[in-house]
Amino acid sequence: MWHLSGTMDIVTTDADIAELTLEEKASLTSGVNFWYTKPIGRLGVPSIMLTDGPHGLRKQRDGADHLGIGDSVPATCFPPAVALGSSWDVALIERVGAALGAEAALEHVAVVLGPGINIKRSPLCGRNFEYLSEDPVVSGVLGAALVAGIQSRGVGASVKHFAANNQESDRMRVSADIDPRPLREIYLRGFQRVVEDAQPWTVMCAYNRINGVYASQDAWLLTQVLRGEWGFAGVVVSDWGAVSDRIAALSAGLDLEMPGSLSDDRVVAAVRDGSLDRQCVNAAAARILRLVDRAQAGAAVTTPPAAGAHHALARESAGRSIVLLKNDDGILPLSKSRNIAVIGEFATQPRYQGGGSSMIKPTRLDNALDEIRLLATGKVVHAAGFDSATDVSAQEATRLRREAVAAADSADTAVVFLGLPARLESEGYDRDDIDLPVQQLELLAAVLEVNPNTVVVLSNGGVVALPFAAEVPAIMEGWLLGQAGGGAIADVLFGEVNPSGKLTETIPVRLADSPAYLDFPGEFSHVRYGEGLFVGYRWYDTRDMEVAFPFGHGLSYTTFEYRTATAGIDDHGDIEVRIVVTNTGAVAGREVVQAYTALPGSRIARPRRELKAFTSVALDSGESREATLTVRRKDLAYWDTRVDRWVVEDGPYTVEVAASSRDIRSSVQIDVDGDPVTIPLSRSSSIGEVLAHPVAGPILQSAMASAMAGAGEAAAIMPDGVDLSRLLDSFPIGQIGMLAAGSGAEVDPAMIDALLAAADAPDEGSTAHAPG
Ligand code: BGC
Repeated sequence: MWHLSGTMDIVTTDADIAELTLEEKASLTSGVNFWYTKPIGRLGVPSIMLTDGPHGLRKQRDGADHLGIGDSVPATCFPPAVALGSSWDVALIERVGAALGAEAALEHVAVVLGPGINIKRSPLCGRNFEYLSEDPVVSGVLGAALVAGIQSRGVGASVKHFAANNQESDRMRVSADIDPRPLREIYLRGFQRVVEDAQPWTVMCAYNRINGVYASQDAWLLTQVLRGEWGFAGVVVSDWGAVSDRIAALSAGLDLEMPGSLSDDRVVAAVRDGSLDRQCVNAAAARILRLVDRAQAGAAVTTPPAAGAHHALARESAGRSIVLLKNDDGILPLSKSRNIAVIGEFATQPRYQGGGSSMIKPTRLDNALDEIRLLATGKVVHAAGFDSATDVSAQEATRLRREAVAAADSADTAVVFLGLPARLESEGYDRDDIDLPVQQLELLAAVLEVNPNTVVVLSNGGVVALPFAAEVPAIMEGWLLGQAGGGAIADVLFGEVNPSGKLTETIPVRLADSPAYLDFPGEFSHVRYGEGLFVGYRWYDTRDMEVAFPFGHGLSYTTFEYRTATAGIDDHGDIEVRIVVTNTGAVAGREVVQAYTALPGSRIARPRRELKAFTSVALDSGESREATLTVRRKDLAYWDTRVDRWVVEDGPYTVEVAASSRDIRSSVQIDVDGDPVTIPLSRSSSIGEVLAHPVAGPILQSAMASAMAGAGEAAAIMPDGVDLSRLLDSFPIGQIGMLAAGSGAEVDPAMIDALLAAADAPDEGSTAHAPG
């Protein structure tokens, strides 16, 4: 039978799918229509549905337009990734995933297309609202939690967009040109984490090219790295319409082309004429059958959630996602009896999700004004203040502003809702700048003139510049919060929920400060990732630049004190960091604790600090608790291009335990043994490399000492203070003879060959280490 259940490993031999004809196998490798795989009626293989994702279900109604945007089955719209990620809350995110999985199961959806875990390389990316972070550990850990949650309900996840889909401009063909280290350490690391930790049923390959090769046709990416190195056993599905050469894609390791394709017969012909290896089709068909099998066995959820339960979860998670950026003099939380002017159209017409394939038809939609009114006991007035439509007359704009200023003037506190109109950010295109519309900034300035007790609430999917940050006493980053965001905003404003979200993306002072500024979005279908490893806070912190609000930042209505961190190596070689955190304020709260590592004196380029672990502690007022953070050894590794593998460098690492990347509370040093690295020596190896070699190093050291002893003239021609050993460090060993001749010493060329031969002896290696 076609049934492949029971095995975790896919055995992709002909025997497994012996009952299928070549035509049937080929047919399985593309969709029957926009959302479904092809059935094989003869063998009872059903068609299964894959649909969006990622923060709610977008299941097209039968008979709707094929994109289905705007006409999907109502589903809970949970906070999009930009918000949910700011919770840094693994358990909560897993619960959201499980709820999403349950809704999918009830709708007979086999695979939810998400989460999106691409790195936020530039604040301009139009799809940043769908992504979790500028940091791969955050994206990987939280992405894995979403996958685990979704899959716990017998529904598959599709981790997307694999890989390096960090912009929307020219997304169908742009080549992301990335050096090996940033590719591995920044852009693939999160995917690796999700694949290894959560075993997603599917991975969706991206539209774009990576270093010139389409992701859908990249054998290195889909087969060598994803399956070979990371052990991925699921289905690789194309992004919708990402395949231009089906044969090249199947050869590279793509299993399922979506949506439907008319070229199944070409696949058959290619196998027959030998241009496509039959095993590729067999393997893809077997994996798809196993996916069908899993979907059939999975969908265990038959009972709908209790009325309102998912909306309540959407509200809870939205509350956790809000980031309190600033709160001077404790202006927040607001007393319920205050007279409040609620200003801004987002208070009544929330921006709660982003545009494009992730647009969900929510089951319900709360707005902040109504929710504020429900909680407030004082007077609440509202004024729109501005109109985001493009065709508003100057007269109307002035009228709206005057009305809002009058409302603010008469209130104790003005709560001003600012944000990005939907048209400014969406899947499919990038933003041109990070500015809020001018009319909103002018409105805010006018409100501040009459009422300094002003709180700004932001609605935006990508970060925005905050030129007013110094003037406004309180700023709440409300992102796009999903269908229950209005209630969550009210909860945080009045202190029903103590905010605990923190930024997973730096808010720069100016766009021009951002790392990819000069290399985004590229030209002529190439974008060079010129900033290399220095993405997000890795850039701002290493360059010691001013930022508006740093990565990891977020305030609470209470305060937390950190004691002194300790660190030790556990049985797995991981670093276990412990620190006691105390809630020193008057109310209960939750603190997201972060651990960054650094290796001062490293022999490779490294950011000033890199996040390697995080956790959160919930504490009552006055309570203390020990937080434990595990820095995985593998997360300490860098990608060594000399040996093409991960290497942990030797050395005393600094572990910084922090409340944000700019708020380091305690620092501890820990010695880590490096991985052995065998670098074959040759005549072009530098003297420094030879000296670092465990066998050749000592031999050369003593040879050099005696050569230098006899080279009195060399010392004479060196100006005082020149460090000869540093000068020689990068000199190729093969040319040492020339150097020696110039200084009157003699070097026998045979000695160099003997030295290299000695180093070449098997099983010898040098340990990666920091100098000194
Ligand atoms: C998007 C994917 C989405 C797919 C199906 C594509 O255009 O890039 O994220 O899952 O469409 O709607």
